[in-house]
Amino acid sequence: MERKRWYKDAVVYQIYTRSFNDSNGDGIGDLQGIRQKIDYIEKLGVNTVWLNPVYKSPNIDNGYDISDYRDIMDEFGTLEDWKELVADFHKRGIRVIMDFVFNSTSDEHNWFIESRKSKDNPYRDYYIWRSGKNNDSKIPPNNWTSFFWGSAWEYDMRTNEWYMHTFHKKQTELNWENPQVRREIQDIVNYWIDLGTDGFRCDVCNVFSKVYNSDGSIPDGENHLFFPVGTEDYIDGPRIHEFINELNTKCWAPHDCMTVGEAMGNKKPKEKVLSYIAESRNEFDMLFGFDHMDSDVFSWGLPRFRNNLRYYKKALTHWQEMTAKGAWNANFLENHDQPRCLSRYMKAFGTRRVEAAKVLATSYFMLRGTPFIYQGQELGMTNYHFKSTKDMRDCSYINLLNRWKYVPLAKYGILWYSNRRGRDVARTPMQWNTQPNAGFTTGTPWIKVNPNYKEINAEAELADENSIFCYYQSLINLKKSEKYGDIVRNGVYKEYQPNNKDMYIYERKCGGRKLVMVLNFKNKFISCKLPDEFKGKQAQAVLSNYSDGNTFTDRSYRPYEGVIYYLEEK
Ligand code: GLC
Ligand code: CA
Repeated sequence: MERKRWYKDAVVYQIYTRSFNDSNGDGIGDLQGIRQKIDYIEKLGVNTVWLNPVYKSPNIDNGYDISDYRDIMDEFGTLEDWKELVADFHKRGIRVIMDFVFNSTSDEHNWFIESRKSKDNPYRDYYIWRSGKNNDSKIPPNNWTSFFWGSAWEYDMRTNEWYMHTFHKKQTELNWENPQVRREIQDIVNYWIDLGTDGFRCDVCNVFSKVYNSDGSIPDGENHLFFPVGTEDYIDGPRIHEFINELNTKCWAPHDCMTVGEAMGNKKPKEKVLSYIAESRNEFDMLFGFDHMDSDVFSWGLPRFRNNLRYYKKALTHWQEMTAKGAWNANFLENHDQPRCLSRYMKAFGTRRVEAAKVLATSYFMLRGTPFIYQGQELGMTNYHFKSTKDMRDCSYINLLNRWKYVPLAKYGILWYSNRRGRDVARTPMQWNTQPNAGFTTGTPWIKVNPNYKEINAEAELADENSIFCYYQSLINLKKSEKYGDIVRNGVYKEYQPNNKDMYIYERKCGGRKLVMVLNFKNKFISCKLPDEFKGKQAQAVLSNYSDGNTFTDRSYRPYEGVIYYLEEK
């Protein structure tokens, strides 16, 4: 009998603690700050939260550089605070998933401090050390580039060798080939499970296994020339599935943990995607894929001048179809690494921010899979436009600024690019109310607050029954409802009019019952002929962002109009 796994009914709220709510006035969000807002999270209706890393960390990459996996970062509180928080969530039936960050540790982790001391230190082999190419200490062992710019290797004088870091040089790559390292990881994962963790979001989950030559050296990559293509050299390594399967068997499966892997690299063929998430494989429950995140960007990373709805739809459909049988999807529009969705896909929203946000919400929330909401998305928060590079906080962009600091005007280019594709733009504090700093802190916030908090804030959203927040609530209720829940959970996905540049039309079908989403992505009237299948059919509007005139006919759809229809076939 198929075991009922809870992840299929999860609706996940992503909390980036640093920017969520500050309880002690130091300008940094913290665990007690989250506790103060549990009513708010419960009100939204989600049943799961994902906490970005809260472990001890020197914070070069906001917690993705961990120096002690068994304790909490000083700025966020203590292990006791974490236990109280998790107990509060559990009391309300909300599960908690934690970030799993084991591609690298911080260079300040004890293992690395030991490892770099000498070549025969017992921890040496916890990391990936190599001598320079052709034994020349000045040349890195191979040509790989870091995801955060520059070589993926750093020279260490002490032992005259280089260590690998596919991200920041303070994020030192763990050697997963070493069984002792894998045992340590399993112990840590089980430690958090014993403390009550319900699942894991697995950071850069396809990077753990590296390619080796028979002499132990690491071959040059073919894709190193230009970011971000270079990453293709170090994803999907030969032992990746063995490693993940081992974790699944030893840690996740025995405790029915929900797992979602972050799959770097785009345009994944079906076999590759299924190799990680097919139910028969016992690896992850689902993956974050990034194809649709590219719909406002060309493959070499430069912004498109216009949004490309067709690309967006194609990417979503591709993932729906790949996972249709025997696999599941993780559906999202935002996270702590991506710009706000309104600012990228709906640039022209003007005075129709609310309608536009609801159309975006409907475009991904009703897909087959588990929906994720990034804090502030439910308020329709937008990108903060940074005025000066001095206000930027993201280590990858600071790294870039340092590399280009002698080139006149380069910083303006970097600022321009970061304001469109950077990560800081969506990491600004959660906008709670109209008090100073949006009610996030009584101190000085660690990163700028978006001044639009006077209009966009949680207090205003809760007071207005037509708000974006309330719309997300309705979507969640629809998913939970007796009448439509099975369609949202199991319905078969089908897209109509894939070449339509203005509208996204898709259905979910379960037996003879269907939900049909008709969404106008443009800030203007679009006349639309319904697909032939629907000619003359009666349908009922279940949810929409205009209060009247929601007929299911060929007609002119209003700017950013979005309707969910329900149909029964006799
Ligand atoms: C993931 C995280 C990102 C972090 C990186 C390195 O992509 O989401 O925030 O910088 O991994 O750990
Ligand atoms: Ca604080």
